[in-house]
Amino acid sequence: MNSLSSMIEVADLTHSYGGKEILKGLNLSIARGEVFALIGPTGAGKTTLLRIIDLLETPGSGEIYFDGICVPRSGKQRLEIRRRMSFIHQKPQVFNSSVYDNVACGLRWRGEERDRIAEKVDGILETVGLEGYDSRDARTLSGGEAQRVALARALVLEPEVLLLDEPTANLDPVSTAKIEHLIGDVARRHNTTMIMATHDMAQGQQLADRIGVLIDGTLLQTGNATDIFRSPRNEEVAHFVGMENIIEGVVVANNEGIATVSVGSNPDGIGIQAVSNYPARQEVYACIRPEDITLAPMMHRSSARNSLQGRVARVASNGPLSRVQIDCGFRLVALVTRVSAEELNLQEGSEVYADFKATAVHIMERNASR
Ligand SMILES: Nc1ncnc2c1ncn2[C@@H]1O[C@H](COP(=O)(O)OP(=O)(O)O)[C@@H](O)[C@H]1O
Ligand SMILES: [Mg+2]
Repeated sequence: MNSLSSMIEVADLTHSYGGKEILKGLNLSIARGEVFALIGPTGAGKTTLLRIIDLLETPGSGEIYFDGICVPRSGKQRLEIRRRMSFIHQKPQVFNSSVYDNVACGLRWRGEERDRIAEKVDGILETVGLEGYDSRDARTLSGGEAQRVALARALVLEPEVLLLDEPTANLDPVSTAKIEHLIGDVARRHNTTMIMATHDMAQGQQLADRIGVLIDGTLLQTGNATDIFRSPRNEEVAHFVGMENIIEGVVVANNEGIATVSVGSNPDGIGIQAVSNYPARQEVYACIRPEDITLAPMMHRSSARNSLQGRVARVASNGPLSRVQIDCGFRLVALVTRVSAEELNLQEGSEVYADFKATAVHIMERNASR
């Protein structure tokens, strides 16, 4: 890691609350202008990490580098560095005053001129789509509007680093889309470095250049969206990113990069074809995303494709999609459109073929280290 080229770097960061280790030796480097999404389940330590990066808390051990500067554990320099960052909370935070005053307050603290403040506030309210809201009492705003005020208040100060802690977790879909659009826009136009905690994987995928998966205080994997969603490093990451089918098996043959993995409890097992270089006898998990499985009434014969016979165990429809559990000698979950489930007349006990490409199977070593 090179701390000179990164905007934020954390090294061997550890933090405990009441004797319980919450962050366990994190190393992370975020480049200037990068949008980094921190994803992970509730309680993983996302907020704690953001608060430590924002210098609201001092870590138990480890270092933080801000723009190449090793941040001291106390003293005036911490405040100077804090001023170069802004933090957006999960719950929109507005002051008990007008929208204008909410946005202007930081500029006033900085002692900017009145006219200059007015110009900046007008500009930023337009950016967040709240022009004309100046005199509204901020407490009367909807959650989405309040979060846009919070963003305006942060952005008007032109922070070099913007930390966002699940900024849309409490918002409806329309407000969420507006905030996401705004975040994307700021990233593109202002080249602001952003670190955004989210448990919404689609949001991470849509907005971030790079994603880090934080589970139980450990950064288990960092990479681009394709790495994380298609090639999770271990079972915990696979689970979290929605690889619902994680099937235990053993490689029985490998023919020029197409592995045959024996799965299921039958003595002979069922063979799944997967693109992988693991050799015979390697113990693995075969991972398949449910949306990569299609269902058909007949076997589909084609190379580098799997077509497994099974019986429907359960169909659960939710909106336009149906989640179908199939017993193929092992359990497989497929996510298909409701229309196709109806066309196939899928019911408990129906015979069906589960179809998926060898390239849709991600092979993970069993007992892979964390
Ligand atoms: N101030 C605190 N005192 C004690 N425990 C805390 C405090 N803040 C967070 N924790 C604990 O630290 C863990 C991580 O919390 P948090 O960083 O909020 O996770 P996340 O944001 O990923 O949901 C949780 O188990 C939480 O209960
Ligand atoms: Mg949190």
